[in-house]
Amino acid sequence: MNVTVVGAGYVGAISATVLAYLGDRITCVESDPVRLAAWRSGTDPLREPGLGDMLRRVDVRFVPHADFADADAILVAVGTPMGRDGRPDLEQVETAAAQIGARARPGAVVLMRSTVPVGTCDRLQSGPLHEQRVVSNPEFLREGHALRDAFFPDRIIAGGPADARATVAELYGRIIDRYGLPRDLSADNGSSGPVPFRWMSATSAELAKYAANGFLATKLSFANEIANLAQAVGADASAVLGSMGLDPRIGSQFLRPGLGWGGSCFPKDTRALQAIGDGMGYDFLVLKAAIEQNARQLRGFAAAIERELPQGATVGLLGLAFKAGTADTRESPAIALARLLLRAGLAVNAYDPAVREVAGDLKIRVHSTAAEACDAADAVVIATEWPEFAAIDLGAVRRLTRGDLLFDGRSVIAPAAAAAAGFRYAGPAGFSERSIEMTAVQRLRLGTAA
Ligand code: UGA
Repeated sequence: MNVTVVGAGYVGAISATVLAYLGDRITCVESDPVRLAAWRSGTDPLREPGLGDMLRRVDVRFVPHADFADADAILVAVGTPMGRDGRPDLEQVETAAAQIGARARPGAVVLMRSTVPVGTCDRLQSGPLHEQRVVSNPEFLREGHALRDAFFPDRIIAGGPADARATVAELYGRIIDRYGLPRDLSADNGSSGPVPFRWMSATSAELAKYAANGFLATKLSFANEIANLAQAVGADASAVLGSMGLDPRIGSQFLRPGLGWGGSCFPKDTRALQAIGDGMGYDFLVLKAAIEQNARQLRGFAAAIERELPQGATVGLLGLAFKAGTADTRESPAIALARLLLRAGLAVNAYDPAVREVAGDLKIRVHSTAAEACDAADAVVIATEWPEFAAIDLGAVRRLTRGDLLFDGRSVIAPAAAAAAGFRYAGPAGFSERSIEMTAVQRLRLGTAA
């Protein structure tokens, strides 16, 4: 099939690479000249594991603009950043739709891979793309695991005019049948049968994307609340959450407590889902609480650190990326934490295995090793769940630091191991006796209930 992909960001570049590997003729349009030059020279500007290597094995034609005339399918994978009112800014989608509508052949299938508000595909179908067939086809890949998620997805969701279904099924046929996929990658969910392919209305497919991210974010906020409560009542959060995860209806993933969730998707998509509800006069209570809890989680973690340190003290901050396995710092809780600590008068020496620089207005020093960042620090703070930090030689770090405080904002260190190395350890909920106000349960335990 002749396929044109608009946008060479995460979703676009991965989709282009995967479809090229599977034998389609791929043109990928990227308007940013720096990014375009990087892709053309065979380097991956996103630094996604394995992508550069895979790209060199396939034939993707990267171009600054396309005429779309010979495309059977067009994938729209442009950015939909959060606008000022919490709703996604659709400018890039509108521009792409206008160009495709003007140049693509009638009947061409336009797959919307960007995350767009419910109703967008139907609106484009009756507007600039009235001659084409518009299909909502949300993407579920995770940064850091993008190639594997694209070759071995849990499901393929698509929706639009019934006569577009066969084209979509053909486009993803090899992925659905798990045929001709790279041997050096494999499904990490252990499944081997055909990939579930769900066809529905465009509106349902659009909502399915927001629903998935909204639910995962809510699950994390719930796990963080349980961890905070566990701290307050003197329970072991990892034992509690670990036992919950053994119930297959709950599942063990996305239960690791932390200083909050971030990234280019969850914050944007949860706000957008809330706005979709608001727009319909529907008050999405659970989601609103999850968003609010996430902000409170970060503030609580920062406050717990500030309470322990005098003004002018130095924090060794391990982690800047919004999660492990990526250099992405968009909406990173680690960066937001650094800003709060600076505002509280603390100095921050940071290290991240993938992030070498931060925005100029963020007055922190970024070092090239964890040891440098922790040298003479009054407290060590883990803000990204890199395996390197989980395996760090705590004894060696403790010999470098001035203070004995270790704040593990990602639950990657065993408290006993921290204690054995001479650290006073606090998880994402901080130190129980000071960081959380006495709860009703504690009052009961102490026999001081009103
Ligand atoms: C997320 C979804 O997981 C993907 O399925 C989706 O396709 C993608 O958004 C998207 O909409 O494009 P991603 O943003 O790459 O993927 O990040 P996640 O792996 O979901 O992590 C999000 C945040 O949750 C990170 O800050 C991470 O550190 C945090 N997290 C994750 C936890 O705090 N605890 C956990 O147990 C898991």
